[in-house]
Amino acid sequence: MDIVSIEGLDKGYGAHRVHRGLDLAIRRGECFTLLGPSGCGKTVLLRLIAGFEQPDAGRIDIGGAPVSDPAGNVNVPPDSRGIGMVFQDYAVWPHMTVFDNVAYPLKIARVGASELRARVLETVALVGMEGLERRLPSELSGGQQQRVALARALVARPSLMLLDEPLTNLDANLREEMRFEIKELQRKLDITVLYVTHDQEIALAISDRMAIMDGEGKIRQTGTPWEIFEQPVDPFVFSFMGIANFVPVRSEGGEYLVGEGNQPVPWEKPVVTAARYAAGFRPSDLEIARSGDGLQAVVVRANFLGAMMDYLIEVDGARMRTSVETHEAIAKDLMFREGDRCVARFRSLLWFDAETLKEAAQ
Ligand SMILES: Nc1ncnc2c1ncn2[C@@H]1O[C@H](COP(=O)(O)OP(=O)(O)O)[C@@H](O)[C@H]1O
Ligand SMILES: [Mg+2]
Repeated sequence: MDIVSIEGLDKGYGAHRVHRGLDLAIRRGECFTLLGPSGCGKTVLLRLIAGFEQPDAGRIDIGGAPVSDPAGNVNVPPDSRGIGMVFQDYAVWPHMTVFDNVAYPLKIARVGASELRARVLETVALVGMEGLERRLPSELSGGQQQRVALARALVARPSLMLLDEPLTNLDANLREEMRFEIKELQRKLDITVLYVTHDQEIALAISDRMAIMDGEGKIRQTGTPWEIFEQPVDPFVFSFMGIANFVPVRSEGGEYLVGEGNQPVPWEKPVVTAARYAAGFRPSDLEIARSGDGLQAVVVRANFLGAMMDYLIEVDGARMRTSVETHEAIAKDLMFREGDRCVARFRSLLWFDAETLKEAAQ
């Protein structure tokens, strides 16, 4: 069953339309990530769901009942929507202790003193902050402040949590650790999480399902992380999920030839017809060797990146990036230098119509 259902949502500011006819459904109990570039309307969407903003048109249902529906004059206030929200900038109150920050939603809801105390302590412990209840935010690290924000959003036991890039301001190690914690909390408390971010790694790590939004606020694809990564519907989705090579291919006399040359693409032929094609693949989808079958190529750039060797190779004027694990490169004589010849083979390849590349995220 869907806990959130959005239909035909329109929202703009003056002449600037942020959302046009947006549809989105989130299932109860899932961790759903909305992934999109900065400025595409993610925060606006969360504020609409939370009730801080009103749509111009369309309808939002939560738990099967309408909460925003301008046509039907429905506008349920934020604190009656059963939602917890965490923002990118923590937004904990600097003059209040950890305890008081977390207790705030319960005070507003007029929960009695002993129950309030029990629930605050339980929730503070849940986010791994027990013993720090009397600290002020200024006496906490960024990660700890974000845990306080999480606890405050969880204390009223919402059935839906909205998380707006909550880890963006944390350093890389902490970000990694916290994303697993958020996932664990979601499972343990059996709540629904809607997480918005522009970071594809976080989205892949925590999502049951995810949606990719383009710069115009249009949802291009919804699916499991595997579907989005392995079966992208267009070049935008493909390139948003990491480094993508798009190599120009021409069709001539039944052959599909790379770049300016006469070497056919060593892969199944496209099933769709286009005037010009782009072969899409990730660096890890392209395998290189000293000799054997494959496209004849030249290494034009070789970079040591620690765990990986990163190569830029050229096949008849078409450039493509590939990567080899450094250990494997040493073991298999794949430590190439600029100017070296090599052969290139594909492990995976997707055909796109070159026309659709123009709108890809680059
Ligand atoms: N209150 C507002 N008034 C005018 N424009 C706004 C307002 N809030 C957001 N916008 C605009 O809406 C667009 C989407 O913003 P936002 O949802 O914050 O993007 P993001 O995906 O980065 O969270 C941006 O162009 C932003 O400038
Ligand atoms: Mg935002």
